[in-house]
Amino acid sequence: MKSNIMNILLLGDIIGSPGIEQLFVKLPQIKKQNNIDLTIVNGENADQGFGITDEIIHQLKSYGVDVITSGNHIWSNRDADQLLDKYDYLLRPANYPDSAGKGYCEILVGEVQIGIVNLLGRYFMIPLDCPFQTLEKLIKSKLKKCQLVIVDFHAESPQEKKALAFAFDGQVQLIVGTHTHVQSADEVILPGGTGYISDLGMCGGIDSIIGMQKDGILTKMKNQINVPFSPARDNGKVQGVVVQLDVEKKQTLSIARING
Ligand SMILES: [Fe+2]
Ligand SMILES: [Fe+2]
Repeated sequence: MKSNIMNILLLGDIIGSPGIEQLFVKLPQIKKQNNIDLTIVNGENADQGFGITDEIIHQLKSYGVDVITSGNHIWSNRDADQLLDKYDYLLRPANYPDSAGKGYCEILVGEVQIGIVNLLGRYFMIPLDCPFQTLEKLIKSKLKKCQLVIVDFHAESPQEKKALAFAFDGQVQLIVGTHTHVQSADEVILPGGTGYISDLGMCGGIDSIIGMQKDGILTKMKNQINVPFSPARDNGKVQGVVVQLDVEKKQTLSIARING
Protein backbone atom coordinates (compact mmCIF):
# COMPACT_ATOMS: atom_id res chain seq x y z
CA MET A 1 0.00 0.00 0.00
CA LYS A 2 1.33 3.42 -1.01
CA SER A 3 0.56 6.53 1.07
CA ASN A 4 -2.90 6.63 2.58
CA ILE A 5 -4.71 5.14 -0.36
CA MET A 6 -5.85 1.55 -0.27
CA ASN A 7 -6.98 -0.17 -3.46
CA ILE A 8 -9.54 -2.90 -3.01
CA LEU A 9 -10.91 -5.34 -5.56
CA LEU A 10 -14.32 -6.91 -4.95
CA LEU A 11 -15.72 -9.52 -7.33
CA GLY A 12 -19.25 -10.87 -7.66
CA ASP A 13 -20.42 -14.47 -7.23
CA ILE A 14 -18.07 -16.97 -8.88
CA ILE A 15 -20.19 -19.40 -10.90
CA GLY A 16 -18.59 -22.84 -11.03
CA SER A 17 -15.42 -23.83 -12.84
CA PRO A 18 -15.94 -21.31 -15.69
CA GLY A 19 -15.90 -18.54 -13.08
CA ILE A 20 -12.84 -19.97 -11.33
CA GLU A 21 -11.03 -20.18 -14.68
CA GLN A 22 -11.88 -16.54 -15.36
CA LEU A 23 -10.14 -15.58 -12.12
CA PHE A 24 -7.14 -17.77 -12.94
CA VAL A 25 -6.72 -16.04 -16.30
CA LYS A 26 -7.57 -12.44 -15.40
CA LEU A 27 -6.94 -11.83 -11.71
CA PRO A 28 -3.14 -11.30 -11.88
CA GLN A 29 -3.48 -8.57 -14.50
CA ILE A 30 -6.42 -6.84 -12.81
CA LYS A 31 -4.49 -6.79 -9.53
CA LYS A 32 -1.33 -5.49 -11.15
CA GLN A 33 -3.03 -2.79 -13.23
CA ASN A 34 -4.90 -1.41 -10.23
CA ASN A 35 -2.22 -1.92 -7.54
CA ILE A 36 -4.68 -3.95 -5.52
CA ASP A 37 -3.98 -4.28 -1.79
CA LEU A 38 -6.94 -6.46 -0.85
CA THR A 39 -9.06 -8.87 -2.91
CA ILE A 40 -12.50 -10.03 -1.79
CA VAL A 41 -14.69 -12.40 -3.82
CA ASN A 42 -18.06 -14.00 -3.26
CA GLY A 43 -17.67 -17.78 -3.42
CA GLU A 44 -21.18 -19.09 -2.69
CA ASN A 45 -21.64 -20.55 -6.21
CA ALA A 46 -18.06 -21.65 -6.87
CA ASP A 47 -18.72 -25.43 -6.64
CA GLN A 48 -20.58 -25.92 -9.94
CA GLY A 49 -23.08 -23.28 -8.88
CA PHE A 50 -23.77 -24.42 -5.33
CA GLY A 51 -21.48 -23.87 -2.36
CA ILE A 52 -17.71 -24.11 -2.14
CA THR A 53 -15.18 -26.87 -1.42
CA ASP A 54 -11.87 -27.10 0.40
CA GLU A 55 -10.07 -27.52 -2.91
CA ILE A 56 -11.67 -24.41 -4.43
CA ILE A 57 -10.84 -22.34 -1.35
CA HIS A 58 -7.17 -23.29 -1.80
CA GLN A 59 -7.36 -22.57 -5.52
CA LEU A 60 -8.79 -19.09 -4.97
CA LYS A 61 -6.18 -18.32 -2.31
CA SER A 62 -3.42 -19.41 -4.69
CA TYR A 63 -4.77 -16.97 -7.31
CA GLY A 64 -4.43 -14.06 -4.85
CA VAL A 65 -7.83 -13.89 -3.16
CA ASP A 66 -7.66 -12.69 0.46
CA VAL A 67 -11.23 -13.05 1.72
CA ILE A 68 -14.16 -15.15 0.46
CA THR A 69 -17.65 -13.99 1.34
CA SER A 70 -20.78 -16.02 0.60
CA GLY A 71 -24.54 -16.08 1.00
CA ASN A 72 -27.54 -18.38 1.03
CA HIS A 73 -25.81 -21.02 -1.15
CA ILE A 74 -22.88 -21.52 1.22
CA TRP A 75 -24.90 -24.25 2.91
CA SER A 76 -25.33 -26.22 -0.34
CA ASN A 77 -22.13 -28.12 0.42
CA ARG A 78 -22.52 -30.70 3.19
CA ASP A 79 -19.05 -29.76 4.49
CA ALA A 80 -19.99 -26.08 4.85
CA ASP A 81 -19.91 -26.06 8.66
CA GLN A 82 -16.51 -27.69 8.76
CA LEU A 83 -15.09 -25.31 6.15
CA LEU A 84 -16.52 -22.24 7.88
CA ASP A 85 -14.98 -23.31 11.18
CA LYS A 86 -11.66 -24.11 9.52
CA TYR A 87 -11.05 -20.90 7.57
CA ASP A 88 -11.24 -17.46 9.20
CA TYR A 89 -11.28 -15.81 5.79
CA LEU A 90 -14.32 -17.77 4.59
CA LEU A 91 -17.43 -15.90 5.70
CA ARG A 92 -21.12 -16.72 5.86
CA PRO A 93 -23.74 -14.01 6.42
CA ALA A 94 -23.43 -12.71 9.99
CA ASN A 95 -27.18 -12.60 10.58
CA TYR A 96 -27.68 -16.39 10.46
CA PRO A 97 -28.45 -17.29 14.08
CA ASP A 98 -26.25 -19.88 15.83
CA SER A 99 -24.41 -21.10 12.75
CA ALA A 100 -20.94 -22.48 12.18
CA GLY A 101 -18.15 -20.09 11.29
CA LYS A 102 -18.36 -16.32 11.39
CA GLY A 103 -19.99 -13.53 9.46
CA TYR A 104 -17.04 -11.19 9.75
CA CYS A 105 -13.26 -11.22 9.81
CA GLU A 106 -10.42 -8.84 10.45
CA ILE A 107 -7.44 -8.57 8.15
CA LEU A 108 -4.27 -6.54 8.46
CA VAL A 109 -3.16 -4.84 5.22
CA GLY A 110 0.14 -3.09 5.89
CA GLU A 111 -0.65 -1.46 9.19
CA VAL A 112 -4.34 -0.99 8.51
CA GLN A 113 -6.83 -3.16 10.35
CA ILE A 114 -9.82 -3.87 8.12
CA GLY A 115 -13.10 -5.47 9.15
CA ILE A 116 -15.08 -7.36 6.54
CA VAL A 117 -18.74 -8.22 7.15
CA ASN A 118 -21.09 -10.48 5.21
CA LEU A 119 -24.86 -10.02 5.62
CA LEU A 120 -27.95 -11.55 4.05
CA GLY A 121 -31.00 -9.55 3.03
CA ARG A 122 -34.52 -10.39 4.15
CA TYR A 123 -36.59 -8.97 1.28
CA PHE A 124 -37.68 -11.89 -0.98
CA MET A 125 -35.30 -14.08 1.01
CA ILE A 126 -35.43 -15.93 4.32
CA PRO A 127 -36.41 -14.41 7.69
CA LEU A 128 -33.01 -14.12 9.35
CA ASP A 129 -31.91 -11.80 12.13
CA CYS A 130 -32.08 -8.10 11.23
CA PRO A 131 -29.09 -7.12 9.03
CA PHE A 132 -29.23 -3.53 10.33
CA GLN A 133 -28.99 -4.57 13.98
CA THR A 134 -26.37 -7.20 13.19
CA LEU A 135 -24.10 -4.67 11.49
CA GLU A 136 -24.68 -2.09 14.22
CA LYS A 137 -23.63 -4.59 16.89
CA LEU A 138 -20.54 -5.70 14.97
CA ILE A 139 -19.15 -2.22 14.34
CA LYS A 140 -19.71 -1.30 17.99
CA SER A 141 -18.17 -4.46 19.44
CA LYS A 142 -16.08 -7.01 17.54
CA LEU A 143 -14.93 -4.60 14.81
CA LYS A 144 -14.61 -1.54 17.02
CA LYS A 145 -10.86 -1.29 16.54
CA CYS A 146 -10.94 -1.61 12.75
CA GLN A 147 -9.91 1.48 10.82
CA LEU A 148 -11.99 0.49 7.80
CA VAL A 149 -15.10 -1.67 7.48
CA ILE A 150 -16.31 -3.26 4.24
CA VAL A 151 -19.68 -4.99 3.85
CA ASP A 152 -20.88 -7.59 1.33
CA PHE A 153 -24.67 -7.36 1.57
CA HIS A 154 -25.92 -10.50 -0.16
CA ALA A 155 -29.49 -9.58 -0.98
CA GLU A 156 -32.16 -9.66 -3.65
CA SER A 157 -33.67 -6.20 -3.28
CA PRO A 158 -31.79 -3.05 -4.35
CA GLN A 159 -34.20 -1.18 -2.09
CA GLU A 160 -32.98 -3.07 0.97
CA LYS A 161 -29.34 -2.78 -0.12
CA LYS A 162 -29.51 0.99 -0.64
CA ALA A 163 -31.38 1.41 2.64
CA LEU A 164 -28.58 -0.33 4.53
CA ALA A 165 -26.04 1.82 2.69
CA PHE A 166 -27.75 5.06 3.74
CA ALA A 167 -28.22 3.77 7.30
CA PHE A 168 -24.47 3.18 7.64
CA ASP A 169 -23.17 5.98 5.40
CA GLY A 170 -20.08 7.36 7.11
CA GLN A 171 -19.97 4.51 9.65
CA VAL A 172 -18.58 1.91 7.26
CA GLN A 173 -16.47 2.72 4.22
CA LEU A 174 -17.91 0.44 1.59
CA ILE A 175 -21.11 -1.54 1.02
CA VAL A 176 -21.38 -3.76 -2.04
CA GLY A 177 -24.31 -5.94 -3.00
CA THR A 178 -24.08 -9.52 -4.28
CA HIS A 179 -26.53 -12.38 -5.04
CA THR A 180 -28.43 -11.26 -8.16
CA HIS A 181 -25.52 -12.15 -10.51
CA VAL A 182 -26.45 -9.04 -12.54
CA GLN A 183 -24.03 -6.13 -12.33
CA SER A 184 -25.81 -2.87 -11.54
CA ALA A 185 -24.73 0.50 -12.94
CA ASP A 186 -25.46 2.55 -9.82
CA GLU A 187 -22.04 2.79 -8.19
CA VAL A 188 -21.86 5.92 -6.08
CA ILE A 189 -20.12 7.62 -3.17
CA LEU A 190 -22.77 8.57 -0.62
CA PRO A 191 -22.69 11.97 1.19
CA GLY A 192 -20.91 10.53 4.24
CA GLY A 193 -18.17 8.99 2.10
CA THR A 194 -19.37 5.39 1.89
CA GLY A 195 -18.88 3.72 -1.48
CA TYR A 196 -21.82 1.70 -2.75
CA ILE A 197 -23.02 -0.49 -5.62
CA SER A 198 -26.24 -2.52 -5.60
CA ASP A 199 -24.64 -5.58 -7.18
CA LEU A 200 -21.14 -6.55 -8.24
CA GLY A 201 -22.41 -8.99 -10.85
CA MET A 202 -20.78 -12.39 -11.35
CA CYS A 203 -17.68 -14.18 -12.58
CA GLY A 204 -18.41 -16.78 -15.23
CA GLY A 205 -20.29 -17.21 -18.47
CA ILE A 206 -22.38 -14.11 -19.16
CA ASP A 207 -24.18 -15.73 -22.10
CA SER A 208 -26.41 -17.61 -19.66
CA ILE A 209 -29.30 -17.23 -17.25
CA ILE A 210 -27.53 -15.65 -14.29
CA GLY A 211 -24.50 -17.88 -14.82
CA MET A 212 -26.22 -21.17 -15.58
CA GLN A 213 -26.69 -22.84 -18.98
CA LYS A 214 -29.97 -21.74 -20.51
CA ASP A 215 -31.42 -25.15 -21.44
CA GLY A 216 -31.76 -26.49 -17.89
CA ILE A 217 -33.34 -23.31 -16.55
CA LEU A 218 -35.75 -23.11 -19.50
CA THR A 219 -36.84 -26.73 -19.00
CA LYS A 220 -37.50 -26.07 -15.36
CA MET A 221 -39.44 -22.89 -16.04
CA LYS A 222 -41.49 -24.17 -18.94
CA ASN A 223 -42.15 -27.74 -17.74
CA GLN A 224 -41.84 -27.34 -13.96
CA ILE A 225 -39.43 -30.29 -13.88
CA ASN A 226 -36.37 -30.30 -11.64
CA VAL A 227 -33.35 -30.81 -13.87
CA PRO A 228 -29.67 -30.40 -12.97
CA PHE A 229 -28.22 -26.97 -13.72
CA SER A 230 -24.70 -26.52 -15.08
CA PRO A 231 -22.58 -23.36 -15.06
CA ALA A 232 -22.28 -21.64 -18.42
CA ARG A 233 -18.95 -20.89 -20.07
CA ASP A 234 -19.78 -18.66 -23.05
CA ASN A 235 -18.70 -15.01 -22.98
CA GLY A 236 -16.71 -15.45 -19.76
CA LYS A 237 -16.29 -12.32 -17.68
CA VAL A 238 -15.06 -11.08 -14.36
CA GLN A 239 -17.39 -8.51 -12.83
CA GLY A 240 -16.95 -6.38 -9.74
CA VAL A 241 -15.48 -3.07 -8.65
CA VAL A 242 -12.14 -1.49 -7.90
CA VAL A 243 -12.37 0.91 -4.98
CA GLN A 244 -9.90 3.46 -3.67
CA LEU A 245 -10.22 4.14 0.04
CA ASP A 246 -8.65 7.02 1.94
CA VAL A 247 -7.44 5.37 5.13
CA GLU A 248 -7.06 8.59 7.16
CA LYS A 249 -10.32 10.19 6.13
CA LYS A 250 -12.09 6.81 6.22
CA GLN A 251 -13.83 7.52 2.94
CA THR A 252 -14.22 6.02 -0.49
CA LEU A 253 -12.39 8.16 -3.06
CA SER A 254 -13.48 6.28 -6.16
CA ILE A 255 -15.48 3.24 -7.16
CA ALA A 256 -15.22 1.86 -10.70
CA ARG A 257 -16.88 -1.17 -12.27
CA ILE A 258 -14.92 -4.03 -13.79
CA ASN A 259 -16.69 -5.99 -16.51
CA GLY A 260 -14.39 -7.85 -18.81
FE1 LIG B 1 -25.01 -16.26 -5.99
FE1 LIG C 1 -27.09 -15.97 -3.28
